[in-house]
Parts: sequence; structure tokens; C-alpha cells
Amino acid sequence: MKLRRQLAAAAATAAVLMLVPSAVATASPDKHPKVPADSLRALGAQQKLGIGTAVDDARLGSDRAYTDLVANQFSVVTAENAMKWESVEPARGSYDWAAADRLVSFAGQHGQQVRGHTLLWHNQLPSWLTTGVDDGTVTKGQLREILRKHVTDEVTHFRGRIWQWDVANEVFANSWDPNPLPDGLNGDDFWIRNLGEGVVADVFRWAHQADPKALLFYNDYNISGQDGTNAKFRAVHDFVAKLRAQGVPIDGVGEQGHLDTQYGFDAQRFQADLQSYGDLGLKVAVTEADVRTFVNNSTEQVPTSQPAAFAQPFEFSEMLKGCQLVDQCISFTAWGVYDGDSWIPGTFAGTGYGLLYDVDKAPKPAYYALQQDLRLGARPQKH
Ligand code: G3I
Repeated sequence: MKLRRQLAAAAATAAVLMLVPSAVATASPDKHPKVPADSLRALGAQQKLGIGTAVDDARLGSDRAYTDLVANQFSVVTAENAMKWESVEPARGSYDWAAADRLVSFAGQHGQQVRGHTLLWHNQLPSWLTTGVDDGTVTKGQLREILRKHVTDEVTHFRGRIWQWDVANEVFANSWDPNPLPDGLNGDDFWIRNLGEGVVADVFRWAHQADPKALLFYNDYNISGQDGTNAKFRAVHDFVAKLRAQGVPIDGVGEQGHLDTQYGFDAQRFQADLQSYGDLGLKVAVTEADVRTFVNNSTEQVPTSQPAAFAQPFEFSEMLKGCQLVDQCISFTAWGVYDGDSWIPGTFAGTGYGLLYDVDKAPKPAYYALQQDLRLGARPQKH
């Protein structure tokens, strides 16, 4: 197809040009009139690809440079934390939508679409819920009803304003998890352990009832190309195929895309796996892209190895190209705007430099690599 041919022919040129910022500005079909024509969002719009970022609500509005980058460079936003259960219902029965509402309203003002993140996850649950399950004051029957209410209330609150929901997140076992179930679900996952495997299909059904137009995604990491044996990909693929066959309202699969240069990356397999999900009739998205590497310290985040400094933008670019080459891939989201506001240094000590902008919010080689990929993908054919 057209885009494939253009990318293949231009790949060598891209490798040479990817560090060079270009002043060429093209006409933008982006719905929002004020975005720069050579921004990621404007270039992505030329090929109908959403370009997203996770947003830290504490910085939105209070940090001008940050806010401008979110508005000007991205056409899709994901709440990094503000839509998670502990954020929206810190005390039982008492909702706090303020931070998430601010983001959704910001997106409306800036012509952006929203990825809702996330409804069913073992992490960042409110302590009233986990404590209640631990001490037995919340029974299994009550837990199921509490979850149904949570999904219904949250999706209803944002009804009509969310493009894609990450309905279920990270319920499959990794190679190092001790208790995988026969179909690859993680037997130790909070929700699977307490409510059984059927809970995954149920949350999709509840979400669909609350907002029939939202696209409903299963979201996870290491499910396209990164897992050595590809066992996690295979498990997710077969599970979502089964859901589809059963008529469960699932629309897509989100590959998070958290890479680390020390492990290498099989870009062909990444693309092939995304395509396999697409071949099931599902949409796909890269939902949380970042590429970490070893750095001098968490404040400056200067890569300690020269080859790794080249691998970082290369792997970012390979992920984007994998998405561009799969017709069903509808958005590509980085997990944060700049290195000074990334989850990486706090979680993987000694690593960082994972995003598109550095600790001073200056664009990095990864930014220019993506910009170049998007330009090449949108280029009209010469012959
Ligand atoms: O809100 C509290 C604040 O009150 C407190 O003062 C502060 C002190 O540490 O902590 C704040 O909570 C932190 C929260 O982010 C909000 O900033 C938590 O400690 C921190 O653990 C939490 O980290 C988030 C992490 O998910 C939790 O697992 C990261 O920001 C967020 O980027 C990360 O995102 C996940 C995706 O949702 C799912 N996929 C993996 C991805 C990376 O882990």
C-alpha cells in the first residue's frame, strides 16, 4: 500500500535526517486552527493518526511551557493518574472528578481527543477498597457490585467525551509471574483472584452500556514484540479473539510501549504483532510509549553510553513506524511530555531520558525522529 511504499523508500533518508530539525512547515488539516504546521499533531493529522501524551494534571495550567507543549504538539491526551480509581473516588461514595474534568475540558478547548485510563487495574485502587477486601468487610459479591458501579459511574460521567477507554489494564502474566492461568491471565491479579476470569468480559460490557460510542481497549505492556518468547502476545491475542467471538464489546488493543535500550527491540515483531491484533478486526494503539536508558543522575538525565543515546530515538521511531505501517493503528501516545516529569527515574533507579523532551523541556532527537517519520508518512507519492 501507499504508506508502506513511501516509508520503505524513505527509510534510509530518515536515518540520516532524524537529528536535523526542519523549518519546513506544511499546511495543517488539524482541526484546531492554532497548532504549528510542523507539530507532531498536525503532521499526524495528515495521515489520520492521533499523536498523544499522558498529562500530569498538577502541571496543566500552572506550568506555561508544559501546557503549551501539550496544546501545540499533541492531538490526544491521557490522564496519567487523574482518572484512576484512587483519584476519582478517594472516599467511598464520594467522587472527585475535578482534575479529570479539567483535562477533558482542556482537550475540548484545544481540539484534542481523550484516552480514558483506566477502569480495571490492580494498582492505584482506593485504600478503602483494598482494606475492605483484606479484612473481609467487603465480600466478593459486594466487590463485584462495587466494581460494576465504579465502571458505570465513571464511564457515564465522561459519556460522549472519551475517544478510547483503557477498560482493562495489565491482567496478563509476565514470564516472571509465578501463577499464570492456562490462558495466560495472571492468577495473582487482584481482580482475577477475587472475581475470576469472567470479570474482564464484564467490565467491557458495563463500559459499553454506559457509553456505546467510546472505543473500548485492552491495554498492557510487552504484548507486541518485546517478550522474548512472544508468549504474552499470544495469550492476549487468543484471549481478545475469544472475547470478539463471544460478542464482548471490545474494540481495540493498546500496546503500552515501555522500552529500555538495554534489552534491544524487535521492530519487525512489534509491527507484526500489532498487525495480528488488527487482523482480528480490532483497532490498535501505542498507548504509553517511552524508551529509557542508563543516565548520569535523575536531575540531568544525560545518557551514560553514546550508543544508547542513539538507540533511544531509534527505538521510539521504530515504534511509531510500526504503528504507521498498520492500518488499524489509530493513535501513538508518549507516556509524558518531558524527562523532568516521567515515572521512569522513580521506578527504575539509574535510568531516565525516556521521553521526547529533555529535563529543560527542549526537544530531543526522539522528537525530531518522530517528526520526520510523520512527514515521510504524509508525503504525497511522486510517481
Ligand atoms: O498522589 C500522591 C501524592 O499525594 C503524594 O504526595 C505523592 C508522594 O509520592 O505520591 C502521589 O502519588 C503518586 C502518583 O503517581 C501520582 O503522582 C504515586 O506515589 C506514584 O506511585 C504514582 O505513579 C504512577 C504509576 O502509574 C503508579 O503505578 C505514575 O505517575 C504513572 O505514570 C504510572 O503509569 C502507569 C500506567 O498507569 C499503566 N502502565 C504503566 C505506567 C507506568 O507505571
